[in-house]
Amino acid sequence: MKDIPADFPFSETVGDIDIINEEIAGVKNLEEVKLFTPELVDQEAREIYIQACLIMNKICCSRKIKPYLHELYMVLDNLVGKLLIHPEMMIYAALQKKSDTFTFYHAVNVCVFSVFLGRITGIKKTELRELALAGIMHDIGKLDIPAEIWNKKGLLSELEYKKVKEHSLRSFFHLVNLEQVDRQSLIGILQHHERLDGSGYPHGIKEDELHLWGRILGIADVFDAYTSERVYRKAHSHYQGLEYLWQNSSRFDKRLLKTFIRNLSFFPIGSRVLLNTGESGIIMGFHKYAPHRPIVRVKKKDGIGENLLDLAENQTIFIQKLVQDA
Ligand SMILES: [Fe+2]
Repeated sequence: MKDIPADFPFSETVGDIDIINEEIAGVKNLEEVKLFTPELVDQEAREIYIQACLIMNKICCSRKIKPYLHELYMVLDNLVGKLLIHPEMMIYAALQKKSDTFTFYHAVNVCVFSVFLGRITGIKKTELRELALAGIMHDIGKLDIPAEIWNKKGLLSELEYKKVKEHSLRSFFHLVNLEQVDRQSLIGILQHHERLDGSGYPHGIKEDELHLWGRILGIADVFDAYTSERVYRKAHSHYQGLEYLWQNSSRFDKRLLKTFIRNLSFFPIGSRVLLNTGESGIIMGFHKYAPHRPIVRVKKKDGIGENLLDLAENQTIFIQKLVQDA
């Protein structure tokens, strides 16, 4: 973490603004390495990520799960183990992905983000491997739906959209007869498109009807989908992904969403950022209610003096990326 500027304007806590050394719940290592660059991913995380993609490739090509289930669990055990010791490495591996044309990236990423969130919220290690399974298999039912529908550039017809919405139920049926698969995994998979406000599918359930694992998978899925390239658009940055989730927060579990955003924001106090206005600035503090929208000190346009810009109050201004100091 960088030194705090000598003229740092806030005390330890001012109102609802948190600053400096805010504990990141349950994640020790993330505190130290938060400036994301792809080069940071270590070899072990890279290999686990690739192994997970390869096993999904086998499952999808053969359209069979049972013969590969043991191998899949072995890979997931490694993935969970890595996430418990070096969560930031698996997260970096997942964030490296730029295109979703290779579908397995999405499956593995939802797995990584779900376990990451599950771990922070206190789900036991023995259950995390089941959550990992739910994450990686959540869209397996897409295999039953014609690829032309998924890859269609234009608007879907009513019938096509109806088909798309069948996939979570189909994923459920791919796994329901496998005795090794935990009940919670099945529920999570079935509910990964359900939303707290009842706007989801397939059943339109809401509030308490939505299981914790369905809530976790839903956040991980939307975040990864939004930050992935699609046939009809480019990928959004992961900061934009967090922003998108926050703007749609009524659909998600607020407590989980806050935890997710807070732990993926990667904004250490004192780090330098580039804004969409072209200005660069330094992170000075952040809000409890919007941790992805910090307070930034930017140079005035005339080059003389500095401004404090509160991104929570300037919704049109957002962080494009973190920049390393020269
Ligand atoms: Fe899905």
